[in-house]
Amino acid sequence: MTDKLEQLVETAQAMVAPGKGILAIDESTGTIQKRLSAVGVESTEDNRRDYRSMMLSTPGLGEHISGAILFDETIRQKASDGTSMVELMNKAGILPGIKVDRGAKALAGFEGEKVTEGLDGLRERLAEYAELGAKFAKWRAVITIGDDIPSRACLDANAHALARYAALCQEAGIVPIVEPEVLMDGSHDLDTSYDVTEATLKALFAQLYEQNVLLEGTILKASMVISGSEASDRAGPEEVAEATIDCLLNAVPAATAGIVFLSGGQGDVEATRHLDTMNKMGDLPWPLSFSYGRALQAECLKTWAADPKGNREQAQQILAHRAKMNGLAALGEWSE
Ligand code: 13P
Repeated sequence: MTDKLEQLVETAQAMVAPGKGILAIDESTGTIQKRLSAVGVESTEDNRRDYRSMMLSTPGLGEHISGAILFDETIRQKASDGTSMVELMNKAGILPGIKVDRGAKALAGFEGEKVTEGLDGLRERLAEYAELGAKFAKWRAVITIGDDIPSRACLDANAHALARYAALCQEAGIVPIVEPEVLMDGSHDLDTSYDVTEATLKALFAQLYEQNVLLEGTILKASMVISGSEASDRAGPEEVAEATIDCLLNAVPAATAGIVFLSGGQGDVEATRHLDTMNKMGDLPWPLSFSYGRALQAECLKTWAADPKGNREQAQQILAHRAKMNGLAALGEWSE
């Protein structure tokens, strides 16, 4: 293996080191505006910087957080004391990551379905992000469950784009997180979630193989196999954990460096419990950890927003606590 490939493998392994997971704070400008306005904060550049630098300077965060995914704005920002965000992270032992996709757009000819854009110019953007200190990247595809969807065309178009992105990342010495999110939205049952997730992952790994992506230097960010958020009879934690593990064992090659989950609208403790239940099920071929956005941030954001200066430390403690709980869940050692 060349030095570059060895470095990729080393970084990927560090991202899923035992008891550690990833903090997702890469909300696009539109999404962060929604999150901040929901707690009564205006989405100005300064407020976004203060909120995110508050999280990244949480004492001891690096004990349970291996890396954080940033949005383009954040990787270029300095905290109010002049320290760059990347420097803050490097000091805390948290790997800087960057969201590089340009969002999920309507898939022409397929109503209700999306394909993620952002491949044009990606080689040049990745080279710049590597200069800025990014060690890994993220690309999110969105798969919607509904009447007669997802279509084969949607799964294949997204898998193809994910693999092209992953190959470009590895060329740039950056570890790709490939994230095909099967949305929880809808009233579908667990079996439907299983079938769609399995088909999505199989399409993805077929493309990663075709496009020569090194799995040992790749992290899968997966959605759990879970009942739709509006389903009448939602499956419990044991069922979710069993179905998810079964699906992953069927679709994800053992060579993959690790699997991290998104929270996708699950409650904070629910997301922790699901991860812990899976890790208690015994030996698995890959480390299984977290890359939560909302399930790590929700309480922290609420507390910070109520009084950004006065509640800063309290908000950090809340984030540190959730990171620790999920770190324990990644080891299968969490208890309520
Ligand atoms: P959630 O955990 O809030 O789903 O966000 C994770 C993420 O990064 C989605 O791309």
